[in-house]
Amino acid sequence: MASKQTLRDLQDLQGARVFVRVDFNVPMDGAAITEDTRIRAALPTIEHLRQAGARVFLASHLGRPKKGPTPSLSLAPVAQRLGELLKTSVGLAPDCVGAEVRARAEALPPGGVLLLENVRFHADEEGNAPDFAKALIADTGATVFVNDAFGTAHRAHASTAGVAPFVSRRVAGFLMDREIHYLGLALHQPAHPYVAIIGGAKVSDKIGVIESLLPHVDRLLIGGGMAYTFFKAQGLDTGKSLVEAEKVDLAKSLLEKGAGKIVLPVDHVAASAFSKDAETRVLPVTETPEGWMGLDIGPATVSAFRTEVSSAAMVLWNGPMGVFEMKPFAAGTFGVAEALAASRATTIVGGGDSVAALSEAGLMDRITHVSTGGGASLEFLSGDVLPGVACLDDATAA
Ligand code: 3PG
Repeated sequence: MASKQTLRDLQDLQGARVFVRVDFNVPMDGAAITEDTRIRAALPTIEHLRQAGARVFLASHLGRPKKGPTPSLSLAPVAQRLGELLKTSVGLAPDCVGAEVRARAEALPPGGVLLLENVRFHADEEGNAPDFAKALIADTGATVFVNDAFGTAHRAHASTAGVAPFVSRRVAGFLMDREIHYLGLALHQPAHPYVAIIGGAKVSDKIGVIESLLPHVDRLLIGGGMAYTFFKAQGLDTGKSLVEAEKVDLAKSLLEKGAGKIVLPVDHVAASAFSKDAETRVLPVTETPEGWMGLDIGPATVSAFRTEVSSAAMVLWNGPMGVFEMKPFAAGTFGVAEALAASRATTIVGGGDSVAALSEAGLMDRITHVSTGGGASLEFLSGDVLPGVACLDDATAA
């Protein structure tokens, strides 16, 4: 993909009306935001625009409302939190289009910030209806589109891509630019030795990523539930562990293609049931007692993975090593998180679960780049074109 223009390519924003797509789809517990990384990650773009004297219109989705306006998915708690972080009051428009938005937009002073209500309260957002996209721009009076919503860039929705034809400039925000930079390095120009660690429950979720990374990596370490489909492909007895039967042949061919690169766990934490109260045993992966299942990588595997990470120049990590939400099966994931934090390599972490583990371990600051994208980072790393990036102006066209 051609490189894209960024916020740095825009001059003279004094008084300009700028439509900024952010990804404020944050985890909530009722009306409380439980994790605000995505809001913090958008601050550099918002601060830059405010300091340049722009009028800033922020658009985001929250959750997946299917029946129009849904009070529990209002962005009101986000407006409150954003105001605290920016140390200014952030208004919330009652909708993202319409007369009220036009009035609030008209009254917004240079440097002011207006958050539009959840764009997914309109079915036309996901439908990417041109009239709706046009109204998002016309009602705010925006002439510039800044896309800083990397987490939603894999969706071809009205506010992520559909608005592009209705403005005169379309650029990446600072977060989007950083995401494209680091994930782009991981995909196209890694430093060597390059180690990728891929985990998570299912191989089927990660096939694209594994296939696109295999030619570039020096080592591909596999953990998590998906390892058992590979063990099955090797003819091991996997007990009641999670195995995707229809992916066993694919796992076999990946093992052939990745011979000398793919590293599988050597030991695991086997459990008598999928429960934090289950009986557990650390065993070689060749042993799974009848009726038991593997729910985490074992200490010998953590140690082997740590050794690989310690000699790497670049490490990419996506997906947990076990059922880390349950304490008896969390050591593998936290062990990998600590290995990355201790490494001097360029470290890049993507995917909601691995990021949650880093956050829980207090290690976020010790990683070179923590991606805000779950599905988006997987699609990017699979080599797919993201519509929210493709619609931006090419750097060479400036
Ligand atoms: C995410 O959390 O991955 C993004 O905000 C996209 O959300 P979606 O999967 O509901 O489109």
